[in-house]
Amino acid sequence: MYQSKIAGLGSYVPENVVTNDDLSKLMDTNDAWIQERTGIKERRHIKKGDGNTTAVMGVKAAKIALERSKISKDDIDLIVFATLSPDLYFPGCGVQVQEMLDIDTCPALDVRNQCSGFIYALSVADQFIKTGMYKNVLVIGSENHSGGLDFTDRGRSVSVIFGDGAGAAVLTRSNHIGQGILSTHLHSEGKHAMELSLKGPSTLHWVPEIIAENPQGDDIPYYPYMNGQFVFKNAIERFSEVIHEGLTANGLEVKDINMLIPHQANLRISQFIQKKLDLSDDQVFNNIQKYGNTTAASIPIALTEAWEQGKIKEGDLVVLAAFGSGFTWGSAIIEW
Ligand code: COA
Repeated sequence: MYQSKIAGLGSYVPENVVTNDDLSKLMDTNDAWIQERTGIKERRHIKKGDGNTTAVMGVKAAKIALERSKISKDDIDLIVFATLSPDLYFPGCGVQVQEMLDIDTCPALDVRNQCSGFIYALSVADQFIKTGMYKNVLVIGSENHSGGLDFTDRGRSVSVIFGDGAGAAVLTRSNHIGQGILSTHLHSEGKHAMELSLKGPSTLHWVPEIIAENPQGDDIPYYPYMNGQFVFKNAIERFSEVIHEGLTANGLEVKDINMLIPHQANLRISQFIQKKLDLSDDQVFNNIQKYGNTTAASIPIALTEAWEQGKIKEGDLVVLAAFGSGFTWGSAIIEW
């Protein structure tokens, strides 16, 4: 049995900064409400014509991660791409990335696990490396939310939260047992699938039918629906549960954590977990204030920033944890 480690990290966010004040020009909202409930000050949105798409942003992040890993794109054995906002209905973004990076015929797959997408993707990559089937895996999380949000009063409780961006990690076989990904733990609970969901366009909600059934456009299934308070309550439970699960499986305790990178769902959720686990400010990394919730991209963007800022050093115990639509949740315990 082998072990995997992260050999390189990269991230990319579009240049276009959208502040809370910018949003208040589009809908009935304000900076105070958004900051108080979510901690978000601004987010990035793709600007029409800037060339960015979910796959393109993923490629930009991947190029940085590959360069830092010193692993050639030609040595990548598998691409795993996590997103809820793919460029196309099919095929997935993984094969688009493969084409854009000019990688020959390695397998490429997409993971559709929303806010937990990156941890699920990391876990998939880790299993392939552990068994020895593959040595180097490119894992990407990328989202183009701004193209699919409702920027009217009707969508304000959802659209102020989400932002665009991408992050990537190159995983490789670790030469030292004990260094790298120690474990991943994944969960889902499909009975809450509709509490945070986007129904259409889909095979159940084709666009012509949507238009025929909603001539006034008052019940539009192709904008996301979120039961905010229900999501909040479940998130704070599941986050701490799955962090404990990962630590216990490795004989570790909360006090051993050097850096917790929670999925950037909402600053209030991160603060709640921090308090529940009794972690200091230095032990938790947040950057939702600048980027909003970038779903599958949020952990790799935050992990990259924490690493760039020297907040993660060799030998540190790094914990990643996420919760989101599905519901799905998971954690990864990493000895850096
Ligand atoms: N600006 C101003 N007012 C807003 C608003 C906005 N953007 N969005 C909603 N409101 C209003 C509501 O209409 C409501 O008004 P009312 O009291 O007159 O009816 C009021 O604010 C409170 O709404 P409510 O939905 O109860 O607020 P909340 O305290 O639950 O906060 C969330 C809303 C979405 C911020 C909060 O539920 C949350 O963070 N949930 C978790 C979401 C999340 O993390 N999602 C990602 C999971 S991965």
